[in-house]
Amino acid sequence: VTQNIYDDPTFFSGYNQLDRSKHGLDGAPEWASLRALLPPLAGLRVLDLGCGFGWFCRYAHAQGAAHVMGLDVSENMLERARHMSERLEITYERQDLSELDLPAASTDLIYSSLAFHYIEDFTALMKNVVHALAPGGRLVFSIEHPIYMAPSQPDWQINADGIKTWPLNSYQIEGPRTTNWLANGVLKYHRTLGTTLNTLIQCGLRVTHVEEWQPSAEQLTPNPQWREELDRPMFLLIGAQLDSGRL
Ligand SMILES: C[S@@+](CC[C@H](N)C(=O)[O-])C[C@H]1O[C@@H](n2cnc3c(N)ncnc32)[C@H](O)[C@@H]1O
Repeated sequence: VTQNIYDDPTFFSGYNQLDRSKHGLDGAPEWASLRALLPPLAGLRVLDLGCGFGWFCRYAHAQGAAHVMGLDVSENMLERARHMSERLEITYERQDLSELDLPAASTDLIYSSLAFHYIEDFTALMKNVVHALAPGGRLVFSIEHPIYMAPSQPDWQINADGIKTWPLNSYQIEGPRTTNWLANGVLKYHRTLGTTLNTLIQCGLRVTHVEEWQPSAEQLTPNPQWREELDRPMFLLIGAQLDSGRL
């Protein structure tokens, strides 16, 4: 079931206030780590799944990508993306990642930032990704880390001694998680780390990098409040590649 929460006015106005909405890629603390997983983009055909405001599409365009396309289910997000990309050769289309219809072997890089955890059937999504990737093509994506997503009450707990812990429960119970982040009843889908990685492998992708993101020392100095990210991972970043078909 696709909820399309980004077209909910309350959620959308809250999302607009986030640093990553106001400052783009540089407002996202995990961007430098995700960028490090990317191949040189010049000349590549790039597809961004769940492109949001199109920050990455514009980055790929500026890096000299041959063709850039962003897909999203939210009209709100696409409208802003188109507005911010005026006069740039970037194609934005409304497509639900749960029902992707992509030409075979048409893409060199499929990128996605923080969108796949909204998708219930990850296997179907990865089959579509593999179908759309050209031989040797890459997949680079981030999702909320399953330790972050799994709990029924995903918020810090502080005990009588002042010790702060993350209340991990239900980790092995995969499926829907409903939270009240920015709006009530936001629906996401939890999968274990094993399921995520095994799905990639079973769909024929070679996993090249797995990162349970944490802030760097350089980031912690000006942002000491991010130290809590060392207590549990918030983001999972993954790089994978389709075999080139050559021996
Ligand atoms: C957290 S935002 C990230 C936006 C952008 N990738 C970024 O990092 O700035 C998640 C995006 O995924 C999109 N999305 C969620 N479910 C989707 C679906 N079923 N099909 C297509 N896009 C979806 C949302 O509309 C939203 O734009």
